[in-house]
Amino acid sequence: MTTQSKKTIRDIAHWHNQRALVRVDFNVPLNEQGEITDDTRIQEALPTLTYLTEQGARVILVSHMGRPKGTVKEELRLTPIAKRLQELLPNTPITALKEVFSSAVEETVKSLKPGAIILLENIRFEPGETKNDPALAKNLAKLADIYINDAFGTAHRAHASTEGVAHYVPVKVAGLLMEREIQALSKVVTRPEHPFTAIIGGSKVSTKITVLENLLDHVDTLIIGGAMLFTFLKAQGHAVGASMVEDNYLEMAKDLLALAQQKETRIELPQQVVIADAFSETAKTKAISIELGIPDGWMGLDIGPDSIVALQQIIRNSKTILWNGPMGVFEMKPFAPGTQSIAEGVAKQTQVGPCQSILGGGDTVAAIEQFGIDKTRYTHVSTGGGASLEFLEGSPLPGIAILDESVPTAV
Ligand code: 3PG
Repeated sequence: MTTQSKKTIRDIAHWHNQRALVRVDFNVPLNEQGEITDDTRIQEALPTLTYLTEQGARVILVSHMGRPKGTVKEELRLTPIAKRLQELLPNTPITALKEVFSSAVEETVKSLKPGAIILLENIRFEPGETKNDPALAKNLAKLADIYINDAFGTAHRAHASTEGVAHYVPVKVAGLLMEREIQALSKVVTRPEHPFTAIIGGSKVSTKITVLENLLDHVDTLIIGGAMLFTFLKAQGHAVGASMVEDNYLEMAKDLLALAQQKETRIELPQQVVIADAFSETAKTKAISIELGIPDGWMGLDIGPDSIVALQQIIRNSKTILWNGPMGVFEMKPFAPGTQSIAEGVAKQTQVGPCQSILGGGDTVAAIEQFGIDKTRYTHVSTGGGASLEFLEGSPLPGIAILDESVPTAV
């Protein structure tokens, strides 16, 4: 098998004075006061920004924030991002603009000094962004000598700033974060060490069905948790009470279970669950075996202690672990143990296994932060949620596919 590797900013010999248009993913969570609650994505872009500014490039940053649907939403301006970026790069001149493109923006870019940074306003304020409008793509291209995509988290979107613009810029390369993400995830897809376990949680089967199918060809064991577990349990004929279920996906869930049997891949559906009589931290709760069925009016919100023990044993035998999505409603204390045990078990196995662990998805990252687990205890924590899943599905991501190729490498 071969993979096309992409040119990166390191493949460009001369950066001095070049206008480097960098697509970053600064779509970070904000609280109600508009303060950043997790700046991981900004931190992760720093190696690329430092590399470029130290070499004297003139850096123009493009990012989206939220889904403003082509209109200006005051609460989604990139002002807090610019402030945080300036704190992280105190010696770099950073100018935040209030618009994406205009003759004034062009003039500001013209006067940009080597080693300085301009941050354009939220690109999704432009209606053409998500439509991949060539007019917007061409305007962005006017600001660039070289296009750099470092927004792995948005690489699955074919938008004007992630894909369209690259058609109009002669040189387009990956940033260092993009490179790291591609390398880490490719390794899992192309040459994982076995036993390989995937732990997939979260609420919706619908968003993960393709990745689940694809994983059956790669993994030895596929653990399914989170709310989507209940769609599978219902598909097997169990009573699931008021648990969240996607009834439209029951047939697909059945098909997936049959396919796993055909491929001799083990699917592990936790058999003991924590149920509650309301979706609330103060609800009545109990752990029950799914064989008994979930009573009407009760819902499954986490995996139970016996299932935690069973999953830990699988984790302890794994040499590669891919984890995306929580096991339960970890934000509420009574339903956090399932996710916390996975988070701790995978971190421990990464060290003692030894084992390669790859984590992805905003909720997964939020969970390990909530539990105070250091990210360095895992092999790679992806900044992409949807993007990392689509990558693992095997479909080429438009924001990566469009970049210049370097020499193909045999793997
Ligand atoms: C993400 O947070 O997953 C990325 O920034 C992409 O955002 P989107 O799902 O709104 O395109």
